[in-house]
Amino acid sequence: MSDEAGRRAAPVKLTMPEIRAAKGRTPLVMVTAYDAPTARLAAEAGVDLLLVGDSVGTAVLGYESTVPVTVEDILHHCRAVRRGAPDLHLVADLPFMSYQVSDEQAVANAGLLVKEGGADAVKLEGGRGMAARVAAITAAGIPVMGHVGLTPQTAGALGGLKVQGRDLDGARSVLHDAEAVVDAGAYSLVVEVVPAALGRLITERVRVPTIGIGAGPDCDGQVLVGPDLLGLTLGHLPRFVRPYADLATTIREAFAAYARDVRARSYPAPAHTYAMKPDVVAALRDDPDR
Ligand code: KIV
Repeated sequence: MSDEAGRRAAPVKLTMPEIRAAKGRTPLVMVTAYDAPTARLAAEAGVDLLLVGDSVGTAVLGYESTVPVTVEDILHHCRAVRRGAPDLHLVADLPFMSYQVSDEQAVANAGLLVKEGGADAVKLEGGRGMAARVAAITAAGIPVMGHVGLTPQTAGALGGLKVQGRDLDGARSVLHDAEAVVDAGAYSLVVEVVPAALGRLITERVRVPTIGIGAGPDCDGQVLVGPDLLGLTLGHLPRFVRPYADLATTIREAFAAYARDVRARSYPAPAHTYAMKPDVVAALRDDPDR
């Protein structure tokens, strides 16, 4: 239920059947968030799903890649996002090496993100090689969002952060990955940085909603990294990002104006200060105990 600007009257948490039923219908809107106020604003704006992505590493924590991000990092940000948006479907990323070792490790860490982080579901990167993990976590009663195509945690093995599935073999491989993850029980699937035609084909072939990022317009939904769409990312932006604001400029200008005002003593102004009765001031000045 949204108004003309796409905002819902009040945030409504989508259930798993509702997310599945969104396939082929109104596109699902997903965005990453890492803190409570941003999560709240996204909820007020009518976003459908929030992701505490391991992109927190590059977007917020100052790392060069997502590899150093830990389960504790995701937990910390997940709790904040849950406090900011108690009524939105919240997905938490399983970071690098928090699920690759064994099914037991994957289930235990997924459980932590749900029990202690307040997540409704977890997301993990990988295709056929990770199908067993998807099955194990799903069997434990935790919904899993898959993630195929460009998988930044293993970008080194993929030859860098580049488009996946451009040639026949590559496209077949991504398609088989998508099918394997869905067959293993994933309730939805992120498809990252593949040609639009492949994004469309995967969307046609799998029975769960695909959520594209750099995968063309035909996916069942779209996700963007919050700071990218808000214009808060300093440096290179991938081709698929459309910035909807320029918050970096707004913030830089605000800090500069504050610095100017402090140095000119025009801030704080009388409106920002607290008064004391003149007789108290006078008594204080003459206080023999000072
Ligand atoms: O971590 C993240 O932000 C993601 C999105 C790019 C889907 O995985």
